[in-house]
Amino acid sequence: MDNFTFYSPTYFTFGKDTEQEVGQLIKRFGGTKVLIHYGGGSVVRSGLLDRVKNTLTAEGIPFVELGGVQPNPKSGLVYTGIELCRKEQVDFILAVGGGSTIDSSKAIAAGTLYDGDFWDLYEKRMVPAALPIGTILTIAAAGSEGSPNSVITKEETLIKRGTKGDLLRPKFSILNPALTQTLPAYQTASGVTDIIAHLYERYLTNTTEVEVTDRLIEGLIASVVHEAPRVLENPDLYDARANIMWAGMLAHNNVCGVGRTQDWNSHAMEHELSAEYDCAHGAGLAVVMPAMFTYVMHHDITRFAQIAVRVWGCQMDYYHPENTAKAGIEALRNFLISIGMPKNFKELGADEKDIEKLAHRSCYGHTGNGALHGFVELNQQDLENIYKMML
Ligand code: NZQ
Ligand code: ZN
Repeated sequence: MDNFTFYSPTYFTFGKDTEQEVGQLIKRFGGTKVLIHYGGGSVVRSGLLDRVKNTLTAEGIPFVELGGVQPNPKSGLVYTGIELCRKEQVDFILAVGGGSTIDSSKAIAAGTLYDGDFWDLYEKRMVPAALPIGTILTIAAAGSEGSPNSVITKEETLIKRGTKGDLLRPKFSILNPALTQTLPAYQTASGVTDIIAHLYERYLTNTTEVEVTDRLIEGLIASVVHEAPRVLENPDLYDARANIMWAGMLAHNNVCGVGRTQDWNSHAMEHELSAEYDCAHGAGLAVVMPAMFTYVMHHDITRFAQIAVRVWGCQMDYYHPENTAKAGIEALRNFLISIGMPKNFKELGADEKDIEKLAHRSCYGHTGNGALHGFVELNQQDLENIYKMML
């Protein structure tokens, strides 16, 4: 195991009706003027936004609001939010929604205190200062409610980039699983896929002797695989929703990733797909992961065989462990298809003719040096090969 530091200061309040605590929590973390930031309307339709506004009013906390965050959030609304926060002297941002709303809130939080174009913070992956943020989560997926990350797409170039900094970790996150009961099945399944991807990205490590984090990851994937069909069958199943919601947080606040190298090449390849075609991030990952894993599995057959046996219940073939590794990847693919995720470029709405462009942008847009550095180093040709496996 490698040396590590772990700092995850978010205060979580989890369970039914917990959104009622939002006013007290904002006060506790020093907010006196709030920007309520939200998405395309689900929180308006569900009545959540009105409940939040009523609570803030009852607590005597002034607020302004900005809705309209799109999935795969765009830079344009971030500029609007920064201007609004400066003009209104906002000192606390409340994100009400999913990962896109939370990431847009994080960008506004950092951009408001930055003397320059907020996009610099994504180009240089740094966060020198940020307003405090709180979240009320409505979808279990991205894990942004407990993560130090934010991912934004620059509209003009379709470059989707992430930045990272402990200042972006929410001061508090309110997780009420009942709020996810209104999700369409496709969004529930995309969220589940993203959670599984965050766990695989950490599982694919070059560090040895990491039994604790291996077992945490395996346990979380197995739990989500157990619960997902149950909520798809019965969307109101509170306890199954609750397990998925907490798994989503644990999958990405890095408790499972400490002390080990991590991969993230699947995410780098997926971000090109959701930037170009505006597909759901999880749906893109469903197409990327089986292809990526098949391409890189020979780098460490034992690791892929281990997860095949421990999570997917495959029989270990001691003479030909690559057969076990392959069976595990196949089980993952079949599970993702069974929950309604796309299995290839066509079903995702992606186009074969863009492969060279996607591979180039993925290779040069992220690290700038022509390769992705993760579990296995991949150059542009590798990425083109992997994208072709998704056709
Ligand atoms: O916009 P509204 O109307 O709210 O609708 C949303 C949106 O259409 C809808 N939705 C959310 N909660 C709902 C609901 N509909 C009905 N009932 C509810 N309770 O679901 C759709 C998707 O929402 P979104 O916020 O986009 O989902 P998600 O949480 O998957 O976020 C995706 C974004 O997060 C980024 C992704 O790249 C993508 O841009 N990621 C962020 C990470 C982070 N900050 O740590 C890590 C991830 O790997 C990921 O890259
Ligand atoms: Zn993700």
